[in-house]
Amino acid sequence: MSNTIRKGSSNISENLVTDEKLYRQRRQFVKTGIFSSAGLSLAAYFPTLAMAALSDLPNRISDAPNTRKLDGEALNTFEEITTYNNFYELGTGKSDPVENASALITDPWSVSVEGECEKPGTYNLEDILKPHNLEERIYRLRCVEAWSMVIPWIGFPLADLIQRFKPTSNAKYVAFETLYDENKPLPGQKRPNLDWPYREGLRMDEAMNPLTLMAVGLYGKPIPNQNGAPLRLVVPWKYGFKSIKSIVKISFVEKEPPTSWNMANAREYGFYSNVNPQIDHRRWSQKRERRIGEYFKRDTLMFNGYEEEVAHLYKGMDLAKHH
Ligand code: MTE
Repeated sequence: MSNTIRKGSSNISENLVTDEKLYRQRRQFVKTGIFSSAGLSLAAYFPTLAMAALSDLPNRISDAPNTRKLDGEALNTFEEITTYNNFYELGTGKSDPVENASALITDPWSVSVEGECEKPGTYNLEDILKPHNLEERIYRLRCVEAWSMVIPWIGFPLADLIQRFKPTSNAKYVAFETLYDENKPLPGQKRPNLDWPYREGLRMDEAMNPLTLMAVGLYGKPIPNQNGAPLRLVVPWKYGFKSIKSIVKISFVEKEPPTSWNMANAREYGFYSNVNPQIDHRRWSQKRERRIGEYFKRDTLMFNGYEEEVAHLYKGMDLAKHH
C-alpha cells in the first residue's frame, strides 16, 4: 500500500465546522418536519413502511436516527470523504476511485451467502436490506497508511444480518468478497495489484460485536460508489483495509480465511490488524496519524479509540504476534 498523504490547508478546519453545522441543521429540519406534520414517526404507525422497497432506500437513509456521535471531533467533509479514497478495484491513486466510480454498476446487486449456516443462498440487495432499521453512526476511520477521517455512516449492525442466516456452531469466522467479474473487470482489476477478488474476514465474535457496521450510506445519502456501494463493512477499531467495500459474498467458515492484504504481504498486514500505536508497520510508525483536513498530526488511539468496547475480544492474546 502506498503511503501518500495529501497535505492539509489552513482554511479547511473552518470548512469542516460549516459543513457539519449545515448537515446537522438539515437533519434537525427533517426530523422536526416529520414530528410536527404527523405527530409521530410515520414508520411507527405503518411498520410496513420500514420494510420499504429499494426505491425507498434514500428516504430510509436520510431519516436514519443518529445513534453514535464523536464529541469534540469534527466530521470530515462530504468532499473529503468521497474524493480521497482507497479502492484498488477503481485504481491505486487517491482520486482514481471517484474518477472511475461510474465503472462500478450496483443495480442489480445480490449477495451470495455460503458455508456453515442454515440459510445459504443468493439474496438480492432488497432482501438483504428490507428488515433492518438504519441508523447513523459517526466513527473514526484509521487507514494503515497513517491518515484518518471522521465519517457519519448510515447502516445497521452486521450482527443483525448474520443472525438471519443462522450460522452453525462450526462457523468460527466470516469471510467477505468484493465484486469481481473476470470477463468484465473493473479498471483497477485489469492489473494484478492484488489477487482479485478483494477478500476480508473477521473472527465470529468480532463480526458480532455491536460496533461492526454494514454501511449503505454516509452523510444521509446512499453510499457513493467510490466508498463501496451498495454495501460495505465498517470495522472502526481495525485498520481501514478490513472494511471491505462492495460486498457480493459472505461465507461462514471454520478456519481463518485468506485476506487480500495478508496474502499480498503477511509480514506487513496481519489478519487482525487492530489499530495499535505501539505496533509499527514495518516501513513506518503507527504512533501518530494525519486527520485529513488537518495540518498537524495527532496521536493514534489504541483500538482507534474503541478500546472499552473491544479490548475484551483479545484478552490473553499476544497482540504483537497476532497483529
Ligand atoms: N475494499 C475493497 N474492495 N478494495 C479496496 O481497495 N481499500 C480499503 C478499504 N476497503 C479497499 C477496500 C482501505 S485500504 C481503506 S483505508 C478503506 O477501504 C478506505 O475507505 P474509504 O475510501 O471509504 O475512506
